[in-house]
Amino acid sequence: MTLILLILGGTQEASQLATKAANLPDIKVKLSLAGRTRQAVATKNARVGGFGGIAGLTQYLQAEKIDLLIDATHPFATQISHNAAIAANKLGLPRLMLVRSQWKPVTGDDWIEVENIAAASAILPSFAQRVFLTIGRQDLTAFAQVENIWFLMRAIENPSSDILLPKGLLLLERGPFDINLEKQLLEKYNIDTLVSKNSGGDATYPKIIAARDNGVKVVMIKPPMLPQGQRVEDVEAALQWLKRF
Ligand SMILES: NC(=O)c1ccc[n+]([C@@H]2O[C@H](COP(=O)([O-])OP(=O)(O)OC[C@H]3O[C@@H](n4cnc5c(N)ncnc54)[C@H](OP(=O)(O)O)[C@@H]3O)[C@@H](O)[C@H]2O)c1
Repeated sequence: MTLILLILGGTQEASQLATKAANLPDIKVKLSLAGRTRQAVATKNARVGGFGGIAGLTQYLQAEKIDLLIDATHPFATQISHNAAIAANKLGLPRLMLVRSQWKPVTGDDWIEVENIAAASAILPSFAQRVFLTIGRQDLTAFAQVENIWFLMRAIENPSSDILLPKGLLLLERGPFDINLEKQLLEKYNIDTLVSKNSGGDATYPKIIAARDNGVKVVMIKPPMLPQGQRVEDVEAALQWLKRF
């Protein structure tokens, strides 16, 4: 019997899993993307856009006769993960979370770990002057009122025009990034502090290495709480989970 798998995506791992799971016998894959980027919108065979909260997601799972759910969203995308947990529990659907392991500080790292974006924004004025802000475009506004700091910002796409931006320069780039180019960027803009989400994974880790090598302080935002449930850290482990059904 063919089982229908819904993968909640928006990460490289989700896309890799979708490709690999589609090659498993008796599994039909549906990949869902929020549609925040143009690349997401252009992804072949993906459904794009929100479901309409828990009720909308529950309805979708029923209407599409989904048998299995893998939440492979970004560790900071908490709303969709909570919605998925509630909807899957309600319907008794097996659900797995694919969550990368967090980065851990190593010798030479100069990290200040904070609980959330607001705490990162609040702590900066006590020591920083030129900050590299690599938190994506949706949270930039939290830094707009910070005074006496110049911000180098990096995002995949432009924020919407009604968003208030911090004072500085916005670079539009998509990872993966190269260590040497990250170092050059820190030097070119005379950066003293990097602000990053602790997103884990390899694609954006070079900025952390560059900060370590260049003696740049890192304000590291801890990942939010995820719902309870079974978790794996990589695509291979998620495929093993699938093979059990
Ligand atoms: N947050 C980050 O730092 C970050 C970084 C890289 C990639 N991403 C990716 O970008 C997407 C949006 O992130 P976010 O932080 O805005 O998420 P979020 O706060 O958890 O979700 C907000 C709303 O977006 C919709 N949504 C999110 N992911 C979806 C998916 N895979 N398929 C369909 N609808 C989805 C849902 O709308 P409804 O309630 O209407 O269903 C959800 O309630 C996620 O898929 C995530 O994997 C996020």
